[in-house]
Amino acid sequence: MIKDNGLFSSPLKIFRKQSDTGNLTKEQEEIIRLKKEKNAILLCHNYQIDPIQEVADYVGDSLGLARQAASTDADIIVFCGVHFMAETAKILNSSKTVLLPDLDAGCSLSDSCPADQLKEYKSKNPDLFVVAYVNCSAAVKAESDVICTSGNAVQIVNQVPDDQEILFVPDQNLGQWVMSQTKRKMRLWPGSCYAHVLFTQESIERCRLEYPTAPVVAHPECVETVRDLADEVCSTEKMVTFCKEHSSETFIILTETGMMHRLTRELPEKSFIAGPTGNCSCNDCRYMKMNTVTKLLNCLKTESPEIDLTNDLIKNSKRPIQRMLDWSQ
Ligand code: 13P
Ligand code: SF4
Repeated sequence: MIKDNGLFSSPLKIFRKQSDTGNLTKEQEEIIRLKKEKNAILLCHNYQIDPIQEVADYVGDSLGLARQAASTDADIIVFCGVHFMAETAKILNSSKTVLLPDLDAGCSLSDSCPADQLKEYKSKNPDLFVVAYVNCSAAVKAESDVICTSGNAVQIVNQVPDDQEILFVPDQNLGQWVMSQTKRKMRLWPGSCYAHVLFTQESIERCRLEYPTAPVVAHPECVETVRDLADEVCSTEKMVTFCKEHSSETFIILTETGMMHRLTRELPEKSFIAGPTGNCSCNDCRYMKMNTVTKLLNCLKTESPEIDLTNDLIKNSKRPIQRMLDWSQ
């Protein structure tokens, strides 16, 4: 039964490729010039605003960004994403200067698992094997046995020795989904992403009534009742591949709205409906949206703010990240 909560008096947002003028603003041009002058690479998450995606050297998901950060020979990595992503870049390539345009660009999921609480839990349960979703602080990574992203979580959990009991932190929704895919029981840390849990079964069912043939593509951070309605549950990178390979011309996308820029740029002939939440037809992550073109330009000019981690923290958090990269070749 679908209740009318007033949502459908506000129209659904449909994204299609706009005709491209190819014109960049003065700030964007200056960013491109400074990148070249300083031998800097701009790594950008799929949720960033379009004008930032337009000047990036690489746009992708957490896994792709970690791989790029590990392999770059640029002197400076400018990271347009959130804090834990920039930290991961620093851990993987610590001799580089890693910049984040706004150091307050955090993550509710990362905040839901403070390192001291994880440490305490581990001290009471010393035999657990900790699999940490990359959306966590460097200090939490240092307490973990292996890291995973939404793009490789199933593959990683499948490789944990059978005789080990797993604690999965910090996202209970991703953890639940991984359990359903691997049939492996895990203890789940009770964290979640404030933006992805806003999609509801009711709001997606209503959207499907309007677009009955459009496949629903959901991020695994969505709640189970929403994931159950999806034709595909996957990382942001795999969303691009899924929509490319599927014959449908229209898709309902359940993730942060920055994703629409990447999808419309790569698949200009297709249309994407931003899955409505319980309250509206937009779903911006307030942390991802803290980076702006002006902050990015200032950050390149001043080479700050910079990600700064102690050598010990880098050493201890690198081990589980490296294990993830080795296990997901
Ligand atoms: P992806 O790695 O799938 O891009 O997800 C990152 C994220 O923060 C999702 O909210
Ligand atoms: Fe964190 Fe959610 Fe924002 Fe992703 S969308 S960065 S999980 S708060």
